[in-house]
Amino acid sequence: MSGLVYDDQIQETADLLRSAKRTIAFTGAGISVESGIPPFRGPDGLWAKYDPQVLSIDYFFRFPEEAWRGISEIFYKHFQEARPNAAHLLLARMEKNNLLSRIITQNIDGLHQKAGSTEVVEYHGSSQRLVCTQCGDYMAFYQEILQTLPPQCGKCGGLLKPDFIFFGEMIPEKANIESTRETRIADVWIVIGTTGEVVPASMLPWEAKSHKAAIVEINPHPSAYTEMVTDIFLQGTAVEIAQMLEKALF
Ligand code: APR
Repeated sequence: MSGLVYDDQIQETADLLRSAKRTIAFTGAGISVESGIPPFRGPDGLWAKYDPQVLSIDYFFRFPEEAWRGISEIFYKHFQEARPNAAHLLLARMEKNNLLSRIITQNIDGLHQKAGSTEVVEYHGSSQRLVCTQCGDYMAFYQEILQTLPPQCGKCGGLLKPDFIFFGEMIPEKANIESTRETRIADVWIVIGTTGEVVPASMLPWEAKSHKAAIVEINPHPSAYTEMVTDIFLQGTAVEIAQMLEKALF
């Protein structure tokens, strides 16, 4: 086994997933690192290079062109070439084989859907959709839209915004309701690639634990969960561990 993960932990996880009534995957930026998308925190994290202020909602409305310039550089530049990796693909395969009921993701990169997952709750919204701040119309993101910043609504000329939440915005209501419900009904949560530091998303595994869910964590480093709520800590990268789990499950 590579790193610190041992055969028996992988086998234990595979047995747990096969016997679970309902399994949820809760994913963060770490699952997309091996697809070329930098995480937010850590030595080469985005917040070490960019000011998170660019993602505050009042900055967006006060300086829409600068905000859009930052957003396209921080996110869209990486998302264009990013492809799902073995971890995204494993979750999609687990869904197809009734081993995974749903993914709740903090990520806005759309890679779970690109991997073939259909049951995905986008807790922070998605970069793959735009919404008009004036008439509320939604549209799919396409690369050309970045040619004139800030992009304007074709219908009413209003300012277009990526359909993910900015600092200072509420969690999408439907995502919030569905995620809270899963903390009550899912008996296994696989937590992949998240520091567990950003509320309210980070509270979900805690709530799941309080409802007796078993928590499996995949991360190369310990997180806020590891000592407190994690039952099985599979220490390694998302791709490394996904490859081991895939062999044990299929
Ligand atoms: N495989 C798995 N996990 C990894 C990998 C990898 N290859 N590389 C790094 N990680 C882990 C890090 O150890 C860390 O725990 O991924 C996590 C990345 O942490 P963050 O960048 O803080 O990402 P996340 O926890 O998803 O951030 C939550 O913060 O800025 C907001 O809205 C943003 O959704 C984001 C939220």
